[in-house]
Amino acid sequence: MPSVFIKTYGCQMNERDSEAVAAQLVAKGYTLAKTEGIADVVLLNTCSVRDLAEQKAMNKMKNLAGTARKDNPNQILGYLGCMAQSRGKELIDKLPDVDLVLGTQKFHRAAEYLDELLSGKREKIVDVEAEAKSEATIREHLLNGSAKTSVSAFVSIMQGCNQYCTFCIVPYTRGEERSRTIDDIVAECRELVARGVREITLLGQIVTSFGKRDIPVIGRAGTDSNGGAHGVTRPTLQISPFVQLLDAVHAIDGLERIRFTSPHPKGYGDDLVEAYARLPKLCESAHIPLQSGSDRLLKLMHRGYTREKFLGIIQKLRAAKPGIGITTDIIVGFPGETEEDFELTLSLCREVQFDNAYIFKYSPRRDTPAADMPDQVPQEIREERNHRLLELVNGIAARKYDAFIGQQVQILVEGPSKKNKARYTGRTRCNRIVLFEGSTRHQGQLMDVNIERTGSFTLYGDPAILE
Ligand code: 5AD
Repeated sequence: MPSVFIKTYGCQMNERDSEAVAAQLVAKGYTLAKTEGIADVVLLNTCSVRDLAEQKAMNKMKNLAGTARKDNPNQILGYLGCMAQSRGKELIDKLPDVDLVLGTQKFHRAAEYLDELLSGKREKIVDVEAEAKSEATIREHLLNGSAKTSVSAFVSIMQGCNQYCTFCIVPYTRGEERSRTIDDIVAECRELVARGVREITLLGQIVTSFGKRDIPVIGRAGTDSNGGAHGVTRPTLQISPFVQLLDAVHAIDGLERIRFTSPHPKGYGDDLVEAYARLPKLCESAHIPLQSGSDRLLKLMHRGYTREKFLGIIQKLRAAKPGIGITTDIIVGFPGETEEDFELTLSLCREVQFDNAYIFKYSPRRDTPAADMPDQVPQEIREERNHRLLELVNGIAARKYDAFIGQQVQILVEGPSKKNKARYTGRTRCNRIVLFEGSTRHQGQLMDVNIERTGSFTLYGDPAILE
């Protein structure tokens, strides 16, 4: 049977799509090649969010094509995912060695198309059409003995985004928002738990918009943060479809932890904040993309919230769950960003004290409104702001890591560390990586560790077992 090698660029949604494609191919009898050189099929699952990500995948494909021409002329080469979607046939026109271009609504057709290419029935395939119900097709999992993936799994709950932030290509690569049903998602989660999964991360481009068009909001009397029967009754809470989904997944016996990514700040209504306090399996961790601390820029970006609103969300979350880990994404050098705008981003970061922040230099994307906005910021200023902001957020992050020294934290052990097999790796509920001297018996366990020291974005711990 043919062998396949899949390389993934970009976000966790892409990782999940690649896993589903791999699982689909394995179910058809394919093997997973250890290296690209020996594979019959090499697929690059691509990212378009910044130019650099596209360049990387295109350079990789050029190299693959060069080697294949010399050593393995029958090797099938394919692009999957976001760049395949946004560039389509153009990718084959540029590099005729490419055999397959498969868009973001077509992952489930990979096996069928590869069959046709391998058997010589067809020479080239480009399929980037929209397909109804494709959001429900990312469902196969590869829990094939790789312990790491069998403890923690990703589940795709929705696809697409209707927010149309002016910098962002995602609405064009992933399409309109489409959500799976709660029953369908819960069934997949149950099956994963039955196969040994203990932590599930719900995934989508804008998960907080889950089910918006299909599932009605329901009113429910709120309770105090203990959530118990004796709780003080508060005014009715409007429970969004996303929080209804969290409730349904939370009810699965045997599941220990729930996470989700990525949300939009506007999705942090009182129902979601209350869910953090009410649902013990929902980990106290939130990745909330800020993008800018300047209201003027937030408006130009079409983000739909203000600096004050964002600060209000952080305050409410911290009131509900002190110690919640909060991370963010920020863009520097968006068109028209002045020194004053940038300083507002710096001051907001000082105020919030994010546990970690991912900083991106603005990258113009084709067909997005921001690419044609006046006052594009010169590259050297983007670099300089990137540097200044990184220095600030990394300093804050390091101090936050150091504050864990001497504390006891609960981790879910995922498996041996990639770099040092004698070490095991797990995550705290607030999503920090912890390394400790472990063994296979720790795998998949929830355990307490004492944090002894910190490294770069890592905590080092000692199992806290009472002898
Ligand atoms: N340029 C730079 N960064 C971008 N992002 C999205 N689009 C762009 C762009 N055109 C960043 C945002 C988003 C993260 C995934 O990527 O910060 O949250």
